[in-house]
Amino acid sequence: MIYVRQYQTIIVLASLLLTAVACKSPQSNTAPTVTNTATATTAVTPTTSTPAYLNPALPSAERAEDLLARMTLEEKIGQMTLIEKGSIQPTAVTDYFIGGILSGGGGYPTSSNTPAAWAEMVNSYQEAALATRLSIPLIYGVDAIHGHNNLKGATIFPHSIGLGATRNAELVQQIGRATAVETRATGIPWDYAPVIAVPQDIRWGRTYEAYGEDTALVSELGAAFIRGLQEDGLHSQTAVLATPKHFIGDGGTVWGTSTTENYTLDQGDMQIDEATLRALHLPPYEAAINAGAQSIMISFSSWNGTKMHAHQYLLTDVLKEEMGFAGFLVSDWQAIDQISPDYYQAVVTAINAGVDMNMVPYDYKGFITTMLTAVEKGDIPESRIDDAVRRILTVKFNLGLFETPYPDPAQLALIGADEHRALAQEAVSQSLVLLQNENEALPIPLDAKIFVAGSFADDIGVQSGGWTIEWQGKAGNITPGTTILAAIKATASGEVAYNKFGKFENFNPPADVGIVVLGERPYAEGRGDAADLSLSNSDIELIHRMGEQAEHVVVILLTGRPLLITDALSLADAWVVAWLPGTEGQGVADNLFGHHPFTGTLPYTWPTHIDQLPLGTAEGEPLYPFGYGLTTGSQ
Ligand code: BGC
Ligand code: BGC
Repeated sequence: MIYVRQYQTIIVLASLLLTAVACKSPQSNTAPTVTNTATATTAVTPTTSTPAYLNPALPSAERAEDLLARMTLEEKIGQMTLIEKGSIQPTAVTDYFIGGILSGGGGYPTSSNTPAAWAEMVNSYQEAALATRLSIPLIYGVDAIHGHNNLKGATIFPHSIGLGATRNAELVQQIGRATAVETRATGIPWDYAPVIAVPQDIRWGRTYEAYGEDTALVSELGAAFIRGLQEDGLHSQTAVLATPKHFIGDGGTVWGTSTTENYTLDQGDMQIDEATLRALHLPPYEAAINAGAQSIMISFSSWNGTKMHAHQYLLTDVLKEEMGFAGFLVSDWQAIDQISPDYYQAVVTAINAGVDMNMVPYDYKGFITTMLTAVEKGDIPESRIDDAVRRILTVKFNLGLFETPYPDPAQLALIGADEHRALAQEAVSQSLVLLQNENEALPIPLDAKIFVAGSFADDIGVQSGGWTIEWQGKAGNITPGTTILAAIKATASGEVAYNKFGKFENFNPPADVGIVVLGERPYAEGRGDAADLSLSNSDIELIHRMGEQAEHVVVILLTGRPLLITDALSLADAWVVAWLPGTEGQGVADNLFGHHPFTGTLPYTWPTHIDQLPLGTAEGEPLYPFGYGLTTGSQ
């Protein structure tokens, strides 16, 4: 508490000082330095004119040009360097002129995972950046892909697969807005989202990060999320820079082509011709640029054997020149290193291909030294460096970071706020897809006697999935929220008994309704690549056991993708796909009991058997087509 109050004072002081310098004191050539101590001071040296780059009345491009002209090569290379926060101390940010810092998956502050600790952590890096000769603010980035998801207590929205099922662009835009508000409150103006992949093979571990298999759907919802995050123009103090990713074809790789760890699809090779690439995977990027995207992340994957990070034709000729993308390209995590075993060669190739900012993420000294050598030897032209830095600085000016480098502490109260949770709850309800509803199992009468089985029924970590608090996600009580069991208990008026193993001998079976919650444990990226999407034998046994103890059986699937349920379908009356709903499990109960209609439709084709993968493999009819979803049970 004491800290927070001091901190608020400092922030107020800092913004007053910055405003003073920017607006009222034309006689300064040095931006203020702000420290995190109670004795915050500024060093303002009055001169005859304010440098153009510090004048917020001038256009961003003009300010960037002015600043660029004042910069040394070391300062420019620093702007192109993005470091993972655990690998660098604030003092090194000052010493090496670092332009960007990120939190990777699970990159919460080491002190404690609270909003105030996040703001303190981010501010400490920002202070270090502002302490450099030219006081260029850094840009801090994070993967807020379903809410500010590394932060305990943030609102966790359904993963994108669930949003795809809503088909509701307006809702997705509102979620983008709420995510930006919670993220910017902790000082972070840059989000590595949305994923605008068009996955063609649901065995991919990132299937749930995308909106669906259909190019038009991904284009529409991706653009909506960007508009929400950036609040139509990036100017407001709660706007966050979007980063559509991963350019391009991350969802189009061929099984078995990945060379990373034991991955099979993730970071693999896309083997299609250019016409197909342009038709299937490019339109979401056109939509994203039209929606105002100013940073784009490059894909780990390859196209016909060439790594995207080395692909000058796609990065520079197509994206920057043909499509007119004026923002900056950021590499993925240590992805440049994959281009060649010779690091020098890898860096030269990537930067010349069009990478503007390198997510290093660990060895910044190695990257900076390599860059200096490459420019000195003429292997990377200075014009390329200037182009990259101009792009990065222009976006920093557009974001207003020079005027407002620190968050507004008043915004901290909006993290996990009721209105955001209500929005998430509504999104959950709209995302549910009803696959089957026999014998009028749904909606469930409020006074029914209910048995609930499956450990997933009462697990906030599992229902949130990967990219929640930890990179891979984690089962258990990892962040505040409402589990599906808690929501059922809060909604039903009759008796509700819970046993994760489905053993209800002590509760006088049969129940009117047995609810079984099962599916996939959390995973992220290639670690979720899976050859087999079948239900486990124990899951099938659980459904079976419930059938012996309840009149009607309802199965709820918590999953990042369609699972193979063909043989189990007849064991239950109703099947509901809840995807990875996040913290607001009440949205599931609302539909089960008829307080909210089922309107969700499948964003991916649901296969009958595994031989139907990838999409388009001609092996008979799918179990359910793309777009399928019952609306019964909605009375
Ligand atoms: C992922 C990106 C992510 C980055 C930073 C990478 O492994 O592919 O999507 O933005 O890490 O966490
Ligand atoms: C980070 C992730 C990143 C991944 C890449 C993890 O350690 O937390 O953000 O995507 O490494 O391999």
